[in-house]
Amino acid sequence: MGAADRAAELRRLIADWDHAYYVLDEPRVPDAEYDRHLRELQDLEAEHPDLATPDSPTQRVGGAPLDAFEEVRHVTPMLSLANAFSEEEASEFDRRAREGLEVESVTYAAEPKLDGVAISLSYRDGELVRAATRGDGTRGENVTANVRTIAAVPLRLRGAGWPAELEVRGEIYMPLAGFEAFNEKARAAGERTLVNPRNAAAGSLRQLDPKMTAARPLAFFAYSTTTRQGLPSSQSGALATLKEWGFPVNPEVTTVEGLEGLLAYYAALGEKRAGLAYDIDGVVYKVDDFEAQDTLGFVSRAPRWALAHKFPAQEEITTLLAIDVQVGRTGALTPVARLEPVFVGGVTVTNATLHNEDEIRRKDVRPGDQVIVRRAGDVIPEVVRALTDRRTEELAPFVMPETCPVCGSAVERIEDEAVARCTGGLVCAAQVKQHIQHFASRKALDIEGLGEKLVDQLVETGLVSTVADLFHLEAEQLAGLERMGEKSAANLVAAITAARRPELGRLLFALGIREVGEVTANNLARHFRSLEALEAASLEDLEAVPDVGPIMAAHVRAFFDEPHNLDVIAALRAAGLDYVVPEVVEGPKPLAGETWVLTGTLSMPRIKAKNYLETLGAKVSGSVSGKSSAVLAGENAGSKLAKAEKLGVRVLDEEAFIALLQEHGLV
Ligand code: IVH
Repeated sequence: MGAADRAAELRRLIADWDHAYYVLDEPRVPDAEYDRHLRELQDLEAEHPDLATPDSPTQRVGGAPLDAFEEVRHVTPMLSLANAFSEEEASEFDRRAREGLEVESVTYAAEPKLDGVAISLSYRDGELVRAATRGDGTRGENVTANVRTIAAVPLRLRGAGWPAELEVRGEIYMPLAGFEAFNEKARAAGERTLVNPRNAAAGSLRQLDPKMTAARPLAFFAYSTTTRQGLPSSQSGALATLKEWGFPVNPEVTTVEGLEGLLAYYAALGEKRAGLAYDIDGVVYKVDDFEAQDTLGFVSRAPRWALAHKFPAQEEITTLLAIDVQVGRTGALTPVARLEPVFVGGVTVTNATLHNEDEIRRKDVRPGDQVIVRRAGDVIPEVVRALTDRRTEELAPFVMPETCPVCGSAVERIEDEAVARCTGGLVCAAQVKQHIQHFASRKALDIEGLGEKLVDQLVETGLVSTVADLFHLEAEQLAGLERMGEKSAANLVAAITAARRPELGRLLFALGIREVGEVTANNLARHFRSLEALEAASLEDLEAVPDVGPIMAAHVRAFFDEPHNLDVIAALRAAGLDYVVPEVVEGPKPLAGETWVLTGTLSMPRIKAKNYLETLGAKVSGSVSGKSSAVLAGENAGSKLAKAEKLGVRVLDEEAFIALLQEHGLV
């Protein structure tokens, strides 16, 4: 098959998959398969630029940045909808419609009111030629380059019967999952977060660089056309046809009879609202029959045949009374806003999350401020921002406490990480249950019978407040607990006694030092061979251990710098816990007899590279000679490298070295 035919085939396949995914809601292929085809098409078009077409899915990545958006005139103005906030207003609307149409009952199309940005899409001969924002209703902005990047917007129409000129209107929105994921990432990177999905959609559409828009998770639902050519004679019929032509139509759209039908739809969608994948701020009622719509006509800038019946707001203003700090199961400190109670998103909210210290600083939220609170769907309520212009007096900014509000241990904050953590994992009541379970788990001290429910009881009854207390438990105390017979109590005490002499590596893993997994715990044990030596290790010493980087080293140091943790270790010792250090079992020494030389700048500390080589049996020497087996050359290697080359000694760069370590299972 020639390149042109293959490109056409790929375009058709990908358009079919997009259609199945966005319009039919039936994903057809795994992401990897989709990506492979898209990449093949990108490669083909890069090789043969004349094969690229405006409707190619490769256009979704976004073209060149613009200087400004062109102004666009809407031939048919983009109007707004009259709003209703109560059943009475909805009932009034129905009464006027019945009277205007001189009928007993009206059939309505009922649709969600999507909370995004209105868009006009123009198709000529089936191809998307222009996308424009609403603007003031008569003049909007040409955002075609951006809208092309949105996969839910068809670049070419499907099916048959569409007119040569077609203008479709609908809503661009940001699905909640995409919104949350985007903000999670931004928060972790210390970047600005998006305020809410509607602002996010609007802001994303107004990026001058389409590649920025392409990176935002936007979607689209169609809800009307400006002409009726080729369409059935009702709103519901027209939407069904739009779907055949390739437009995503909201699945909640339906027809209902009379006021009763409207109110039932409103109530049903209100129930569903929290579980929907996107924000809606109400429902829209439209007289279904087009002729009936024409009879009713317009009043000022809104149709008489349609009404937006709004839901309670998802954002409200209230006072931030205080900022408390909560400690989670893993020791993460989360600032929580205590609010003047406010009714938002259908419930009364008194607490909301503020995420982390950086976010509070970025939003400049201070106790005493008037703040916007948002509660959408099932998402935890959050403080969106402070209304700083309403501040009437000087307010003190929030500062994260330096010690844990639960246990008083030091709070650790790793550079470049947004989260602050309590380092007193062994003693902190907020973390201790999880710690005890981890301490007893199979790869740690392997104490059989110490399950979650039992740990809860032990902590809640005050029998155990740190792992050291486990070793003082007596069978009689245990036998009094729920679902604990004499026999199982005796078994548990025996299991705890048997766990008194773990290997050092298991003990280190059991201590639950942040990020220290089984492998690292064993590497630390092998390197330091005693708890005392590890306790005394500097950051530099720690970084010399295979698999330990600067962040892990900092966690280990913070753990042993916390006096509460040292107290627990002392208590463990006093309770009779001792560890064993296994004899060094010589592993295979694939580099035995070799002499290596290190030169240049490596990305890992030199001592670490040396340790790796020695683990594999090599000797490490400072100078190159004819007897050298190999030279590991980092960046800017100088005379040693030159000498090695002259003498014909094997030279490896760091990448090759890491491959060697991988081959031998060291990294
Ligand atoms: S029909 C003549 N249907 O609500 C009015 N609008 O105030 C034509 N909206 O900005 C609009 N969901 O973008 C219609 N299912 C829906 C809608 C909807 C959201 C937005 C629309 C406009 C505003 C109208």
